[in-house]
Amino acid sequence: MKVVSVVGARPQFIKAFPVSAALRHSHTEVLVHTGQHYDHELSEVFFQELDIPEPGYNLGVGSDTHGRQTAAIMAEIEPVLEAESPDAVIVYGDTNSTVAAALVAAKTDAIVAHVESGLRSGNRSMPEELNRILTDHASDVLFAPTDTAVDNLSAEGLGDRTIQSGDVMVDSLEWTREQLDGRATERPGPGVVDTDEYLLLTVHREANTTDKTRLQGIIDAVGQQEQTVIFPIHPRTKAALRRYGLYEQALETMHVIPPVSYFDSIALIDQASVLVTDSGGMQKEAFLLDTPCVTLRDETEWDETVEAGWNVLVGADPDRIRAVLATHQWPSSDHKPQPYGDGTAAQRIVSSLEDIISLETPTIPTSLQ
Ligand code: UD1
Repeated sequence: MKVVSVVGARPQFIKAFPVSAALRHSHTEVLVHTGQHYDHELSEVFFQELDIPEPGYNLGVGSDTHGRQTAAIMAEIEPVLEAESPDAVIVYGDTNSTVAAALVAAKTDAIVAHVESGLRSGNRSMPEELNRILTDHASDVLFAPTDTAVDNLSAEGLGDRTIQSGDVMVDSLEWTREQLDGRATERPGPGVVDTDEYLLLTVHREANTTDKTRLQGIIDAVGQQEQTVIFPIHPRTKAALRRYGLYEQALETMHVIPPVSYFDSIALIDQASVLVTDSGGMQKEAFLLDTPCVTLRDETEWDETVEAGWNVLVGADPDRIRAVLATHQWPSSDHKPQPYGDGTAAQRIVSSLEDIISLETPTIPTSLQ
């Protein structure tokens, strides 16, 4: 089986590496990096740390408006798929790279598989929500991480293409925990102060970085906390803080550090007293690591974390952020549900693709051709 795997942005490197490892045992994988993320700290560092092989192609598209970035990926990936003629194309998550690759691959003979399918926030003003919906409807095989995702796909008439695979981010996390065991005593993250009690902050969503009032509310409320705040900063957030004249305030009230590697991110979440974030994946990583999470959005794709009491949605309202941080009672980790699977999603995905592709291309005896 020959598979083209498409990645481009930070969370996709994390989701793809366990699947890549499982695929490369007995199949051919051609990795395509769209170049959506290009800064060393958002891209190369993940390839080094997770031992991801060099991409066969780097499309080098870089940053642009949504339309132009998506179009550039589509134009660049089409000749790659023509040249490689894979049996399957795997796309991950909900970025512009995901939807662009899925739309082009859907018009080839390859089976298009979407990993982390069926997530819905219900908020169609998020670019990621549109990317998810369009990718799911363009794909042939939908690997859903949870029962909720399976239900979402059934409700849109996509149940017959859906396979409950479990969540590949559990595979990534389990592997990383083993690697980190030997480094447990090291301080996580570059330049992180030596403190036992800290709050970890990350912000990068468009809704929070293109609206000064929202960003100001977050920086005010989190910056006023008594405990140390560690803030690994995404380049778009740094640019937004500078644009709105808030960067100095952030530097004065928080420990602002460059974006961190995956290992450091996991170590930072694990040891934080609380995570405050608008990231999708980090809400779930906090849940898996028994760290309470305050989410800077009005809705989430990971409802299970909220239902279990480990995640509270606060939007960007400074009063609400302060109130939850001050008074919320977090649950104990006893009897915590495990809705995201057991860390064997990658193998399940590869086995399912093997079955589907062997059925799709039955060997026709030459005498009958
Ligand atoms: C993208 C994904 C989002 C994912 C996030 C993880 C979309 C629509 N969004 O958001 O789902 O959670 O990645 O980080 O695909 N930039 C840099 N260096 C880089 C990459 C980006 O400076 O290496 C800056 C550029 O100013 C760019 C801005 O970040 O304009 C936004 O980048 P983009 O790739 O559009 O989205 P992200 O915010 O990274």
